[in-house]
Amino acid sequence: MTSSVIQPGDIGEVAVIGLGLMGSGIAELIARSGRRVDAIEINQSFLDQGMARLHASLDKAVSRGKLTDTARDEILARIRPTDDVSAGVADADLVIEAIPERIELKKALFAQLDEACRADAILATNTSSLSVTEIAGGTRYPARVAGLHFFNPAPVMKLVEVISTVLTPPEIAETLALLSRDLGKTPVGVSDRAGFIVNALLLPYLNHAVHLLETAQATREDIDKAATAGLGLPMGPLTLLDLIGLDTCLAVLETLQDEFGGTRYVHAPLLRKLCDAKLFGRKSGRGFYDYRRQSTVADHELAPVPGEVALIRERDGRLDELASQITAAGIGVVPQPSDETGLVIVAADPRHRVLDAALAAGHPAEVVGVHFAAAGNAKPGLAELVLPDVTAAGTAAKAAALAARIGLNAVVSRDRPGFLIEALAYAQFNDAVRMFQDGYASPADIDTAMMLGCGYPRGPLQMLDEAGAANVVGVLEAMHAATGDPAFTPVPLLAEYATAGNLFRAGAEG
Ligand code: CAA
Repeated sequence: MTSSVIQPGDIGEVAVIGLGLMGSGIAELIARSGRRVDAIEINQSFLDQGMARLHASLDKAVSRGKLTDTARDEILARIRPTDDVSAGVADADLVIEAIPERIELKKALFAQLDEACRADAILATNTSSLSVTEIAGGTRYPARVAGLHFFNPAPVMKLVEVISTVLTPPEIAETLALLSRDLGKTPVGVSDRAGFIVNALLLPYLNHAVHLLETAQATREDIDKAATAGLGLPMGPLTLLDLIGLDTCLAVLETLQDEFGGTRYVHAPLLRKLCDAKLFGRKSGRGFYDYRRQSTVADHELAPVPGEVALIRERDGRLDELASQITAAGIGVVPQPSDETGLVIVAADPRHRVLDAALAAGHPAEVVGVHFAAAGNAKPGLAELVLPDVTAAGTAAKAAALAARIGLNAVVSRDRPGFLIEALAYAQFNDAVRMFQDGYASPADIDTAMMLGCGYPRGPLQMLDEAGAANVVGVLEAMHAATGDPAFTPVPLLAEYATAGNLFRAGAEG
């Protein structure tokens, strides 16, 4: 390789190989920036599909008044589709590979690029989690191979992870970072490690959501709502799995599992089953949800609202507001249940079983726990209705009817530590602390990556600070005790911060 490294301003022609969901978005982004694009697929049929996706995306922008007809035509004129890889990359200053996540395919392609590209061209892979070093290893000039990882949908999400291997000179990472800025993105530089920042945090969280679904902790809709209404995330985990593609998610989890081991990355059996059934999510028409027809959520009839509710109030006044709301709706509230009481409400704590409070209150079959999302959530106000397994079948229906009557935004969870919101969030916070503890990324970079890559309203470590490290440790310990799963053990640094009362994002804007 020549000693001079291409500068961002010199990158006038970019070859994008693989025009799937990510590749077509990346090709569009680059053509929009005024650069020439070689849009490459391995056969005419895939090429036609990829170009159709790209055309559709530009047409949509025109129809929404964000792009003129002329601008669209100019963008398209800069794109040269081809199914000849070697010819397509011959003049490129930069190649971005976005083919399926299979190491043998990537290594074979990079060996071909090695021969076909100019010696000074930079070769980037958009791999989600495979080893960039291994991909580089089979080439003559491994130092010019780096990772440039975009997020779905590529035209929208602002983050790009720029991945350096031990061989990547800083100038190449710098050029790719500057190029990313020129494309309107924010680059975060990281070293080559499975999942980089975002996928190493996102995928175990998504997988955990699948575990919750397959162990009947809640419905798919309630799991998603816990993340959107409870945590303020733009999409629920099951919807996001469908967006990314279940096959891609499974592949990333397998890479994480190979690199880190343990229990946190072991894929949920349901994820594999859906992949075996070729239900890959949105791209195949069906995954956790069915995209081929309009949602047919039945307007099921609500159960009658009980005339009298027992509400066991807490000394700290946590349920006072709820009591007022119920009274205002014309429903009697009593402090202790009697035989006339239709429903018994207790305060639920994600560290403890509601069952014990239910037994103490008497009438356990009629008990529902209520837990309001704690600090660390963007949109407080979502109530988790928690049902011990001894609860009578009709109790959930009565609680749902009550919630609807008083306008309470609610999800229903089985009585397992962490319920839904905190089980999902706190396990991810623990992973984020582990990443910082390992020296892989700073708290600020971790938070930036999750905000810009996945649309989080605030990063996981800032949310952790807001929820309180000691509280997070308490819930994680309860999750560990209940499941025996070591993945939920608070990592040592989190336990230390909890004891010392330190903040991970001290000085970060709230
Ligand atoms: N292509 C182009 N533009 C798109 C788009 C797409 N596929 N999807 C949405 N948009 C645009 C819309 O046109 C709209 O633009 P304007 O605001 O200018 O009108 C904007 O994005 C918002 O879209 P919507 O209003 O339709 O929908 P929304 O507000 O619900 O946002 C979303 C959609 C941006 C996808 C949002 O839900 C979100 O941020 N979700 C999280 C996505 C995420 O986590 N991505 C990372 C996945 S991980 C990954 O990709 C890495 C990997 O390796 C696996």
